[in-house]
Formats: sequence, C-alpha cells, structure tokens
Amino acid sequence: MGGSSPYIQRGEARKAQQKFSVTFQPANVTVEVDPAKIPYGRDGEPGSILDIALAHGVDIDHACGGVCACSTCHVIVRQGGRSLSEPSDAELDRIEQAPGNTPDSRLACQAVPDGTANLEVEIPGWNRNFAREPAH
Ligand code: FES
Repeated sequence: MGGSSPYIQRGEARKAQQKFSVTFQPANVTVEVDPAKIPYGRDGEPGSILDIALAHGVDIDHACGGVCACSTCHVIVRQGGRSLSEPSDAELDRIEQAPGNTPDSRLACQAVPDGTANLEVEIPGWNRNFAREPAH
C-alpha cells in the first residue's frame, strides 16, 4: 500500500524547483533534497516529508502506507513550515487524533515542501522506530 488516497481532496502541491535540506530531530540528521529525484519511493505523497525521510534512511512509522488513514506519521515542523503544502481537512482530522499534537504538527505523508525553505522536523518519541533490520 502507499501513494495517494483518491478519496481526499487536496490543493495541488507546488513542486520544488531548487534543492533544499531537511533536518530530522532529535537524531540531528540533515538530508539534501534534489527535486529532480522526486518522488523517491511509493509511500506518501510524492516529495512529502515521509517520502524524503524513507529515501534517506530515516524511519517514520507509517502504518497506513502514507494515504492519510492513520496518524502514525505525525511529525512536528520546527522550521520551514510555511514552505509546506496546505493540510487537507482529512489531514487536520487525523492530526487531532495524534498523541501530543501541536499547532506545528503535520502528517509526514501529506506535507509536501515546495523547496523555498530548509526544514527542521521533529519525530515524536513514540514514533521513533529504533528496531532496525540488519542490512542483507
Ligand atoms: Fe498513515 Fe501518514 S502514514 S496518515
């Protein structure tokens, strides 16, 4: 499962035109995003914070596969939030259900940066997946 839900109405996300960075906290991992490589994978909206994270080895739980049907991908955007796509009503409803939500909360699978700012994103403690499969 993954990608976009056909049942959710959303505005068209502006596509990034320039490289930008996303810093994931508390691990303090900064990744460089090249818009030419978007979408990276299949989970979440193309170019979403989830798409970027997974492509760079940063685990964010995403139980529904990135279709705005859970709230496990909840993140808190500490910087650069104005460069993100507007949240849909469905995303806002899901965020209300996320433990520890704040006014800066977003669903990583739905929030798509337009590249006009560097981002700093906090992954809540309950959402960090410390169990990793060893490389095969
Ligand atoms: Fe389920 Fe984002 S992964 S809402």
